[in-house]
Amino acid sequence: MHTTPIEPSITIVRHPLIQHKLTLLRDRRTPKKIFKELVDEIAMLMAYEATATLSLDEIVVQTPLEQAAGWQVSGKKLTLVPILRAGLGMVEGILRLVPSARVGHIGLYRDHDTLEPVDYYFKVPGDAAERDFFLLDPMLATGGSAVSAIDSLKRTGATRIRFLCLVAAPEGVRRVQAAHPDVPIYCAALDRELNAHGYILPGLGDAGDRLFGTR
Ligand code: PRP
Ligand code: URA
Repeated sequence: MHTTPIEPSITIVRHPLIQHKLTLLRDRRTPKKIFKELVDEIAMLMAYEATATLSLDEIVVQTPLEQAAGWQVSGKKLTLVPILRAGLGMVEGILRLVPSARVGHIGLYRDHDTLEPVDYYFKVPGDAAERDFFLLDPMLATGGSAVSAIDSLKRTGATRIRFLCLVAAPEGVRRVQAAHPDVPIYCAALDRELNAHGYILPGLGDAGDRLFGTR
């Protein structure tokens, strides 16, 4: 049987408001409170772009005057899945846009020496095969965390997964696209490279620490 190869896709969302806010986010002088607000706002704006490819079913509703043809998003409720911790900062902004979305959680941290992900928590709603998933993490660095999270989602039956991040490194994009070419990536910036410690350059530093004031 002939199958069409899947073309990996990456969308850099270049909307002026996103680029303005991202620059404030990168600035080391931006305090924690503003950093959190900016992550929230950028996530909402990016979700507007990432929801543009959701499929629709045709429906009919009754207006006060007559019947009207309309549309509703297909399938079960959209499901947001933040990768803990930093992905949590993206949830509320997207929920303002899609209030009925469900929220799962994937707990992962990067081992400081190996940079490989260590997983510690996984909970998503059932019926994964019938849902669209937005996997959320501000940073795509080596790509280890994203690949591991997508592996876990697919093991539960998920087939429609989009990965939303704010800043991506070329290494991480290549790793996700090689392992999961069917998962579209949305980012606000594709940065230059990783440093020896796996940090994105120029990046914005440690997203989790800046969001939660740890360090
Ligand atoms: C950061 C970030 C991603 C991961 C990206 O999390 O939020 O999850 O690193 O790196 P990778 O692409 O090389 O896997 P971290 O492990 O620091 O955990 P935290 O969110 O709990 O701070
Ligand atoms: N995680 C972060 O928070 N920042 C980076 O630059 C890389 C991984």
